[in-house]
Amino acid sequence: MTQTLATQSDAVHLERTLELAERGRGRTSPNPLVGAVVVRDGHAIGEGHHAGPGCPHAEPAALADCFEDPDGATLYVSLEPCAHRGRTPPCVEAILAAGIRRVVVASDDPSAKASGRGPELLRAEGVEVEWAEARLAHAARLLNQPFRKHARTGRPLVVLKSALTLDGKVATRAGDSRWISSEASRARVHALRAEVDAVAIGIGTALADDPQLTARPGDGEPIGQPWRVVFDSHARLPLDSVLVRSAGGVPVLVVCSPDAPISARDALAAAGVEVLVVEGDDETARVAQALSELGERGIQSLVLEGGPRLAGAFLDAGEIDAMLAFIAPVLAGGGEARSVLEGRGVEAIADARRAVSVEVEPIGDDTCIHARFREW
Ligand SMILES: NC(=O)c1ccc[n+]([C@@H]2O[C@H](COP(=O)([O-])OP(=O)(O)OC[C@H]3O[C@@H](n4cnc5c(N)ncnc54)[C@H](OP(=O)(O)O)[C@@H]3O)[C@@H](O)[C@H]2O)c1
Repeated sequence: MTQTLATQSDAVHLERTLELAERGRGRTSPNPLVGAVVVRDGHAIGEGHHAGPGCPHAEPAALADCFEDPDGATLYVSLEPCAHRGRTPPCVEAILAAGIRRVVVASDDPSAKASGRGPELLRAEGVEVEWAEARLAHAARLLNQPFRKHARTGRPLVVLKSALTLDGKVATRAGDSRWISSEASRARVHALRAEVDAVAIGIGTALADDPQLTARPGDGEPIGQPWRVVFDSHARLPLDSVLVRSAGGVPVLVVCSPDAPISARDALAAAGVEVLVVEGDDETARVAQALSELGERGIQSLVLEGGPRLAGAFLDAGEIDAMLAFIAPVLAGGGEARSVLEGRGVEAIADARRAVSVEVEPIGDDTCIHARFREW
């Protein structure tokens, strides 16, 4: 990663690779979102993106799309080209076979089998390789936060989603939370669920709300359905809950501790629920352990939908990467009414997690705040 871009025209084509990459959103896991453009004399002669596991990578897709011979052209790509053989052949081979003379890359691939090997091989074969300037490299990295965190840590990216009142409550003093946020906000959450690998709640929420946790975007069929994960140490999830009754259609995974009665675990398993036993001395340790186990199953992105006790344990475990807060213009009051996060929390504000970036968007009557606490 030694060189940066010189020209504005490179930036235009790299921006286009990011737009193309977006087309795969919600479809590519466990693979990253990637877009590519082949350019000759300043004009695109081929474009492509990765559409999902087993489909061609963006680079061969763009090369196959070329309406003239790409020999001697420049290839722009949002993620470094791979040098390894997976379900498809290495992209480096396709690039060399096509006679591409220059490759401009927007972001690195931190996975162990990549990490610069592709660009190195291209350079060794005489192809000029350049990297995007900081702004575009950052935009390209943001596209693939779940892939990047999973590649680096083996754990999924966690986004805490919460609907809260203007006074910071997620339920009334009686535990009622339906519905704090507007229909438009809830539609946004359904769209988000369709894009991620898993949605998680604690058993407290499962018992209080008996939710479905499926993606029901309202504008046609969802792209996919996430795993529905319940943190439930003692395997208390009722067999007649909506989650268990629908486990045959959309998978449900219960995370319990070794203390959970075998009979309860067996009953859940017999009802089609996957039961994952995790060890750990306390709730925080069990969160970390469970995330590693979910990561091993290929889950790269997880939306945490509460409640406050489980979300607090995630915060204490240092596992909240981002938060989507849907703040409704209503006041609930009540000292007993729950707020978003419990757990241990911090003593000094100086120790509080501070967002590295914040986006604010009005949705209906609500305000959606998207805060990122770390980037991968
Ligand atoms: N407005 C919103 O966006 C929103 C979202 C969700 C929930 N809510 C509201 O929040 C309330 C429920 O919240 P809650 O705090 O009582 O329940 P919760 O956070 O959903 O579940 C807490 C329970 O999860 C279990 N658990 C298993 N593993 C855990 C771990 N590693 N760390 C922490 N907990 C773990 C514990 O029970 P065991 O020890 O038995 O396993 C714990 O009591 C309801 O009123 C619901 O309506 C609101």
